[in-house]
Amino acid sequence: MENVRPESMARITTPELANAFIEQAIKELRDQIGDQKVLLALSGGVDSSVVAKLLIRAVGQQLVCIHVNHGLMRKGESEQVVEVFRENLGSNLIFIDATERFLTKLEGVSDPEKKRKIIGGEFIEVFAEEAAKLKGIAYLAQGTIYPDITESKGIKSHHNVGGLPDSFHFELVEPIRLLYKDEVRMVGRALGLPEEMVSRQPFPGPGLGVRCVGAITRDRLEAVRESDAILREEFAKAGLAGKVWQYFTIVPDFRSTGIKDGKRSFEWPVIIRAVNTQDAVTATIEELDWKILAHITERITHEVAGVNRVLYDLTPKPTGTIEWE
Ligand code: XMP
Repeated sequence: MENVRPESMARITTPELANAFIEQAIKELRDQIGDQKVLLALSGGVDSSVVAKLLIRAVGQQLVCIHVNHGLMRKGESEQVVEVFRENLGSNLIFIDATERFLTKLEGVSDPEKKRKIIGGEFIEVFAEEAAKLKGIAYLAQGTIYPDITESKGIKSHHNVGGLPDSFHFELVEPIRLLYKDEVRMVGRALGLPEEMVSRQPFPGPGLGVRCVGAITRDRLEAVRESDAILREEFAKAGLAGKVWQYFTIVPDFRSTGIKDGKRSFEWPVIIRAVNTQDAVTATIEELDWKILAHITERITHEVAGVNRVLYDLTPKPTGTIEWE
């Protein structure tokens, strides 16, 4: 497979160019896969969703998708994957809810790199176990994109635990390996994927796990998930969703005193992070409107259990990283 983008390849900037790419990709996928079966780990992120949709067009029911919910997904995300790919597109989707397995393994683990290793390693194990139950798979599809290949220090390869077990003898299918992120989004739109899925902000492989600082507990993880859902809802309402590069909430593992319903409370703070960047190597802070921040604070402190304060992180990268772990 060609891994260098030819100089002659035009940047995909219009729906027409996206359609031309799709036609060509479908032809190549059919040539490569023939009448064999192909397996895909479908996270619900832009890259794997675009690959899934291309493969559905190219080989239909020969595609088998596995979606693993590691329990660290954002609110409603796994449900949306099932709705879009199984219910609307009728694809072969195996949905594994491995929440208990992941959270049990993560109990009491506070070191960020250990947390990442457990999440990455467990993910591969669950995926390999499911794949082993399937018969006659010849290919493994991946949502590799061009920056993953060209930037050896790329975020995905740097952070995520790669490497499938030796029992995986599948040939790789990587239909978007020569595309940049903006082109993947353009192709996703041309394929008719929901805008919410196509314009989705980057989400780390270990999910909300790196935003539930320190040892993950179920109640604090819920506070991360619920506050993140409120933040996303309010950003969408304020027209910020497509404008700010990445925005999310963090819940640290300490509490502070507050007052709720006339009584002293001792609860967690929620930290809001909203940053802009070109390449995630450096980042600047979104200068959020004070009124929006105050409204989000009001909602989070009243609607999220166990939370009595909201803080806004003003730190650019450097000196802070984008995530807190
Ligand atoms: P940092 O925190 O290093 O993040 O400034 C830069 C970008 O990378 C994302 N990120 C990750 N992505 N697995 C991923 O796939 C990870 O372990 C991981 N850690 C950080 C982060 O969300 C930001 O977009």
